[in-house]
Amino acid sequence: MHLVVLGGTGFLSGAVVDAALDRGHTVTAVTRGTRPMLATADDGALRHVVGDRDDAGSLGEALAPVLARRVDAVVDCCGYTVAGARAAAEVLADVPRYVYVSSISAYRDWPPGPVPDESAPTFGADADLDEYGPMKAESERVLAATFGDAALAVRAGLIVGPGDRTKRLTWWLDRIAREERVVVPAEGLDQPVAVVDARDLGGWLVDAAAADWSGAVNATGDAGMTTFGALVEACRVAVAADGGRAADLVAVPQADLLAAGAQPWRDLPLWMPSDVAATAWQVGTSRARRLGLPSRPVEETVRDTWRWLSDAGLEHPGLPEAVRAETHGR
Ligand SMILES: NC(=O)c1ccc[n+]([C@@H]2O[C@H](COP(=O)([O-])OP(=O)(O)OC[C@H]3O[C@@H](n4cnc5c(N)ncnc54)[C@H](OP(=O)(O)O)[C@@H]3O)[C@@H](O)[C@H]2O)c1
Repeated sequence: MHLVVLGGTGFLSGAVVDAALDRGHTVTAVTRGTRPMLATADDGALRHVVGDRDDAGSLGEALAPVLARRVDAVVDCCGYTVAGARAAAEVLADVPRYVYVSSISAYRDWPPGPVPDESAPTFGADADLDEYGPMKAESERVLAATFGDAALAVRAGLIVGPGDRTKRLTWWLDRIAREERVVVPAEGLDQPVAVVDARDLGGWLVDAAAADWSGAVNATGDAGMTTFGALVEACRVAVAADGGRAADLVAVPQADLLAAGAQPWRDLPLWMPSDVAATAWQVGTSRARRLGLPSRPVEETVRDTWRWLSDAGLEHPGLPEAVRAETHGR
């Protein structure tokens, strides 16, 4: 296949390019050129063109020489505006297959959810389309209007793995490696958490580009694949396995954290208060499982992310007072 990847030098998009090349496909990646292409191909199987996918003129110009020959599918990894969806629909309308990376944020009632399956309502066109979730929902509609059954909207959950610069999972690894004691929300430890490794998702997006699946599909780990506590423990194991000293965990009741002004998710990444978490991590993934989306053990993802982080030079912000062990008398 000849794939056009919108993106290609980022986290998920880099994994898509790697997977496509591994599977023997030819890739044209489109980015604005702000970061280098990490993938390489000696045999000319990879081409990197510079253009802004949010602008039809720029995208069309970047892809003009490419569209002169056959393109089998698009994998769209950088949909951040509705204008970008319209631009792609205009320029790439003749491509026979379009896989759009959407998000579970497209669901109107998530969080707190739950999202039993893909038939749950998404945001309507009357929502604020500058907001991330409504923008994803509208972009899905724009692309479906052009590509019909040839479009697949992949509603990704929390993507993790090596290369992740969003400072969520790496925040825990960084803290556990640096601090003596790390605060965790006591009620959070048993909460089920679901994530998807960028490498699992990236490879499967390439499979999706070759398949004829249409509509929408939730793409994350199974509800209950792990727990918040197991994820944090996997971070401790990964740090210790490399000879580091893993921080002791200090379980603080969430009422105390909230009273101290801690902001869920922002101050302790992946932490949602119990009333939200009980349903927010419950996203039905039966369709993805039927379609073969893999889900590697979370311990493997954490270990590989730690190895990547050790060389990545990713700076994490200072710890807010509200989530320091000392603040809670520990
Ligand atoms: N991270 C998550 O947990 C998560 C969860 C759900 C859904 N998603 C979705 O997953 C997708 C990938 O997310 P990611 O964080 O992994 O991103 P990513 O792959 O790092 O995407 C960024 C890539 O797209 C390029 N890009 C960005 N804006 C562009 C533009 N206007 N024109 C051309 N190229 C552009 C970037 O290069 P340049 O900057 O050089 O242009 C880079 O190569 C996104 O659609 C996101 O909404 C992510």
